[in-house]
Amino acid sequence: KASRLVLGIETSCDETGAAVVSTDGRVLGEALASSAAIHAQWGGVVPALAKGEHEKAIDGVVDLALSNAGVSASDLSAIAVTIGPGLSLCLRLGAMKARELARQHRTPLISVHHMEAHALVARLTNDGVNFPFLTLLVSGGHNLLLLAHSVGHYTQLGTTLDDALGEAYDKTARLLGLDLSKGGGPALEALAREGDPQRFKFSVPMRASKTGSKTCDFSYAGLKTNVRLAIESEIPGAEQRPLADVDATERQLRADIAASFQRVAVAHLEERTRRAIGWALEQEPNIKCLVMAGGVAANKYVRESLTRAVQEGPLELTRREVKLGMKRKEYTPIRLVCPPPRLCTDNGVMVAWAGVERLRLGLEEPPPPLEETDHSN
Ligand code: KG4
Ligand code: ZN
Repeated sequence: KASRLVLGIETSCDETGAAVVSTDGRVLGEALASSAAIHAQWGGVVPALAKGEHEKAIDGVVDLALSNAGVSASDLSAIAVTIGPGLSLCLRLGAMKARELARQHRTPLISVHHMEAHALVARLTNDGVNFPFLTLLVSGGHNLLLLAHSVGHYTQLGTTLDDALGEAYDKTARLLGLDLSKGGGPALEALAREGDPQRFKFSVPMRASKTGSKTCDFSYAGLKTNVRLAIESEIPGAEQRPLADVDATERQLRADIAASFQRVAVAHLEERTRRAIGWALEQEPNIKCLVMAGGVAANKYVRESLTRAVQEGPLELTRREVKLGMKRKEYTPIRLVCPPPRLCTDNGVMVAWAGVERLRLGLEEPPPPLEETDHSN
């Protein structure tokens, strides 16, 4: 069968993304507009502002993706759009654009789950990512360890009990007075490279040795508080003084806090992921890879740390293995697969690809009726 084309539209947060991907896995054209710089001065994404920016950008971004691909909307076999999770004001805009195009060109629609799109794009960018696999999704809103059985079928092994890691990066970056115009995460990662990760001994959240509990869940609220207290006592008012304006001593101090935060935050990520590898292999011995995706997966330190985690493997024996009297885990390292950084953060390609995965399975929905009344206003 000849390859078919899917347009993907992403508007769940502060990026307006669109892309055309073929069912045989070629990215034909893409476009992306970000309103991150606008939110920077507010210290977080402001939904109403984000909505306004999507409104301004959406037509241009979709047109650009199509023209970059050298196709027109009538050539599409399906239009995929993120329907959640995300900011509802923003999601609506993408959904409306998708429906409008689908109605005009009688094109089937595909509803895409944002987090699934983050995970599935690894099957576009890397060879041999077959189901079942383990996936660690680390973004601004979610921290998930999932066992991926097939498209649409996942078992949750762990989630965050409070903040997501991306959110913790963003908040720490803000408290440290960093330039947030390209996102807090990348700014913190860059500053941490100048710092001493051992200078501040923040404790790793919910170490099993202390609580006795064995879970794959995450918690970043405690670390966030400890970091805030350290900043308040060592460099009060840092948030109000841009990094560019401080002397070398204070810059070093901020870098040391950044590096120490990152070390502890990622140690927690590694620990839970290693435990999840044990749990996942117990359920699905055929797992060959860990897919890490979502914005934080763009981080180089995080990628290096997780490379180590898959090498080292399961944190401990599972309860069943203890019962069976097993001593040491036999473990053949699974492979860490991360999409390229620009496909880890929000983009249209991942949505188009998630659409391809569903289209191949016949999971598209019929185009909306021709005479649809617009209920949006
Ligand atoms: O997946 P994503 O683009 O949007 C959501 O679905 O949330 O993730 C955004 C999050 C933000 O919190 C951002 O600061 C974080 O990912 N992030 C990073 C890096 N790049 C993006 N965190 C740490 N290091 C990075 N290099
Ligand atoms: Zn995302």
